[in-house]
Amino acid sequence: MKKETMAIHKGTYKDKLTGGVNTPIFTSSASDYMDKDETPYPRYFNTINQDALGKKIAALEGAEAGLVFSSGMGAISTSILAFAGSGDNVVMLDALYGGTHSFATSWFGHFGITCTFTQTYADSIINAVTDKTKVIVIESPTNPLLAVVDIEKIAIFAKQNKITTIIDNTFATPVNQTPIEMGIDIVVHSGTKYLGGHSDMCCGMVACSNKKLTKILDLARVLGPSLDSRTCYLLERSMKTLVLRVEKQTQNAMEIAQFLENLNSVSKVYYPGLKSFGGHEIAKIQMRGFGAMLSFELKDKDSYKFVKNLNLVQTAVSLGGLESTICSPALTSHEKMSKEERERIGVKNSLLRFSVGAEHVDDIMADIAQGLEKC
Ligand SMILES: Cc1ncc(COP(=O)(O)O)c(C=O)c1O
Repeated sequence: MKKETMAIHKGTYKDKLTGGVNTPIFTSSASDYMDKDETPYPRYFNTINQDALGKKIAALEGAEAGLVFSSGMGAISTSILAFAGSGDNVVMLDALYGGTHSFATSWFGHFGITCTFTQTYADSIINAVTDKTKVIVIESPTNPLLAVVDIEKIAIFAKQNKITTIIDNTFATPVNQTPIEMGIDIVVHSGTKYLGGHSDMCCGMVACSNKKLTKILDLARVLGPSLDSRTCYLLERSMKTLVLRVEKQTQNAMEIAQFLENLNSVSKVYYPGLKSFGGHEIAKIQMRGFGAMLSFELKDKDSYKFVKNLNLVQTAVSLGGLESTICSPALTSHEKMSKEERERIGVKNSLLRFSVGAEHVDDIMADIAQGLEKC
């Protein structure tokens, strides 16, 4: 099946009673235990609504199994802790989503885990590995600098050294990139973003082998970040249009990136689809499309005033919705990082991260143009 078809059909629970084409919402958090081989505990990660989503993300990511969580951070932290424990080392990119970074800096010590932060080059990641390293955590493209990691190189090295690899595929989505096909063990998502796609829910997802999922599930059941059935239904409904939305948004992003690159008032555009961008050659190999996220810096203009002047594009934390949104990572996703650390990894105060929506591209460009003119 092609992705569009899988997004619509995979995982759907066929309701025999009504013959309905959608998975019904199963609400019971209490069920009969009498005369059952196995006692059901239908709350944590095993409801019919959760199961439908697990199957859908597994199909889209080309994985054996999938699991839905109540947040992206729930999916990420549970997956890391399932494979790294006391005395182990985790190698992680230094320029990735701020929440993942702060989980490592604030909490790994508590669990007796050490973390080595590296740059996004494959050689930097490989050189950071020691015999204590149990997990490598990457993101590609990264949040917010859109750096592209050579996924296959990392996967091959990790397999040879029996290290579990985790990639955050939130920015690319399975529409544009399927890391499991490149040898990565575990894909994690903030489903709050493109999988949900309408800026109205918080959820996370994992896709991996059956064996790895069993371990993640074991830990997930005691940590408990399980998604309720009503939100599962919304997510399942949203994922049916994932391909349509992401393809349109990706197309818009390419045009906006080229538009920004040609403006005198823009000093730098970070977008893997641009030939001028550092990660472009690797992105061309491992991505089907270059995604709908981009970042940029203004030349001689106040970025705060610029975003204030926008009418259509809204300032907002989060990303991946149908509506175009813009934010300053220094004030939002990376606010917990010290200014020095942010500057070291290249996240300047003036950097703007743009989540390109599905509006008509002419309207988005017109809004950017008027916003720049006013400042
Ligand atoms: C790349 C990435 N991963 C993970 C997360 C965390 O996801 P959630 O907000 O669903 O916990 C985010 C949130 O912004 C993100 O951008």
